[in-house]
Amino acid sequence: MEGKWKEKGTDRMILKDIWLDVKAVQERDPAARNALEVLLLYQGVHALIWHRFAHWFYKHKMFFAARLISQIARFFTLIEIHPGAQLGHGILIDHGCGVVIGETTVVGDNCTIYQGVTLGGVGLNKGKRHPTLGSNVTVGAGAKILGSFEVGDNCTIAANAVLLKPLQDNVTAVGVPARAVKIDGVPIPKKEKNLVTMDHYCKMEERIRQMEETIASLQEELASVREKENAE
Ligand SMILES: CC(C)(COP(=O)(O)OP(=O)(O)OC[C@H]1O[C@@H](n2cnc3c(N)ncnc32)[C@H](O)[C@@H]1OP(=O)(O)O)[C@@H](O)C(=O)NCCC(=O)NCCS
Repeated sequence: MEGKWKEKGTDRMILKDIWLDVKAVQERDPAARNALEVLLLYQGVHALIWHRFAHWFYKHKMFFAARLISQIARFFTLIEIHPGAQLGHGILIDHGCGVVIGETTVVGDNCTIYQGVTLGGVGLNKGKRHPTLGSNVTVGAGAKILGSFEVGDNCTIAANAVLLKPLQDNVTAVGVPARAVKIDGVPIPKKEKNLVTMDHYCKMEERIRQMEETIASLQEELASVREKENAE
């Protein structure tokens, strides 16, 4: 997966990217009706349009203008994409409210990102500190991917998962911290957990009862031995 996705650089046309984002919504959001409606009424698409321009300014080292555009976008869409983030084409930001995408994040082509997702860093170090997503990655609502590592192509991060480690291609990860539960759509067998069940508890109770009986009979024997000794 390393190095698979690379930004196409200045040869990438912003208008084409915007069109591919609109198409992505039409293809992957069952509620979407037509391209005009998507273009006018989907704030995920608006955030991406603003970002495509902000990123252009960022790449040309006009950082203030880039940041200004991203802040305006945030104001109108509630989606915060740092102008430095590198986004592929065909991205769907569904619903979008509360999405935060950090400066050194890379998102591959045809990824789907739901509301409340954070693609963030840990710590205060400068340099690459945000995740790199491959292509066709789905990040469920409220999921957090934190740190500078790679998430393979076709991965799915479950809603509300917190992913802190890299993932190979085609993995589904769930939970906090996120763990792989499927590879290539096939469930990973669960490890047997050493749980105390009711059965264990009943057996333990039976053994304690037997031990109590044994102790009681030993005490009786001891008492009668002592009695005999005293009598002699
Ligand atoms: C992860 C997800 C894609 C399901 O993938 P799947 O391949 O169908 O996986 P399954 O439903 O078979 O679940 C596999 C295991 O993960 C668990 N799981 C699934 N989603 C989970 C979640 N969000 N959090 C914790 N565990 C989860 C399941 O309980 C199951 O565990 P089990 O094997 O112990 O029963 C889906 O649950 C999800 O979170 N999608 C995000 C969708 C979203 O955010 N929509 C927002 C729309 S507005």
